[in-house]
Amino acid sequence: MTRSLDTLASPYLAGLIPYAPGKPIEEVEREFGIPDSVKLASNENPLGPSPKALAAIAAALPGLHRYPDGGGYVLRRALGQHWGVDEDCVILGNGSNELLTLVGRAFLMPGDEALYAQQAFVVYDMVAHVSGATKVAVPLRDFAHDLPAMQARVSAKTKLVFVANPNNPTGAAVDPRTLERFVAALPPDVICVMDEAYYEYLPPDARPDVLQFVRQGRWVLTCRTFSKIYGLAGLRVGYAIGPPVLLAKLNQLRDPFNVNNLAQVAAVAALGDTDHVEKSRAANDAGRRSLTEQFQALGVRVVPSVANFLLVDIGRSGAEATTALLRRGVIVRPMGGYGFPNHLRITIGTAQENATCVAALAAVLK
Ligand SMILES: Cc1ncc(COP(=O)(O)O)c(C=O)c1O
Repeated sequence: MTRSLDTLASPYLAGLIPYAPGKPIEEVEREFGIPDSVKLASNENPLGPSPKALAAIAAALPGLHRYPDGGGYVLRRALGQHWGVDEDCVILGNGSNELLTLVGRAFLMPGDEALYAQQAFVVYDMVAHVSGATKVAVPLRDFAHDLPAMQARVSAKTKLVFVANPNNPTGAAVDPRTLERFVAALPPDVICVMDEAYYEYLPPDARPDVLQFVRQGRWVLTCRTFSKIYGLAGLRVGYAIGPPVLLAKLNQLRDPFNVNNLAQVAAVAALGDTDHVEKSRAANDAGRRSLTEQFQALGVRVVPSVANFLLVDIGRSGAEATTALLRRGVIVRPMGGYGFPNHLRITIGTAQENATCVAALAAVLK
């Protein structure tokens, strides 16, 4: 008898729901025939890439016949200098997403437990699912990680703990000192993955010092990205900082040329463009304040956010509102998959994009 693909595939693919990305602008324009649609669905930087990154890309184009530096030396050194760690404590990824999946592939096996928040970035759940590990998903408390409840779920089988701070999709962060105490109290043989994709949006006094654990040699990994405040989501470049012994395991699995030439040079330039980062942070802060007020004026409940997006409760089906907004050329994300059926996640855009979004939402809710 011919075997079915289901029996040939890894048994851990059963029940795995593929990641659903935000719709690309081009697709909405094709599907709905709407020009100039506004994408507020993927927490990208509405100001675009740093001009310095664009110049670095232009300068690197003639070298595209060459493979990239597989070790990413220049970018790792720049990141090491930027964060005050040795470059051997830095690993590059094709987006920080790749590093989250690598850590799962490297460490999780059936019988192990992966601990994370139930309404956190969906990739932790996918990483645990595909490895056959046991998923221990702890509900949020007030839209933020419930660290005491998570601590209570640490067991002898816990291998990986994921913490997103700020959390996606809620935009909430936990108190930095509480988070540091949580990490410090984990058993030393549990690997802690801090997902800090939105770290740069945090006010300085709200940033936990995770690198202290890396310097101590603890098995703590912080994953960060050039996709958010650095405005380079399309290039796919992220990184993790962790102790070299831990990174060695990930490097065994990492594809040889996982971060391309253009991504590497652009990331170095973007890292050095503090003006662009500051401008992006200030624009986000102002946009978040204004968008919050405008949504509240519509009677929409806004979850307080420290990131570049807002989770809003519109009091009716988020999936239906998302479709209605798409017809008006505004792309947002419904949150039913996260257990928030009446919520939307909306990225802070430019002032004009925000105004378009508010007007469209007002019309949809009328
Ligand atoms: C919390 C969180 N972690 C990781 C990522 C992955 O980002 P990237 O792979 O673009 O670095 C995202 C993307 O939205 C995110 O929200």
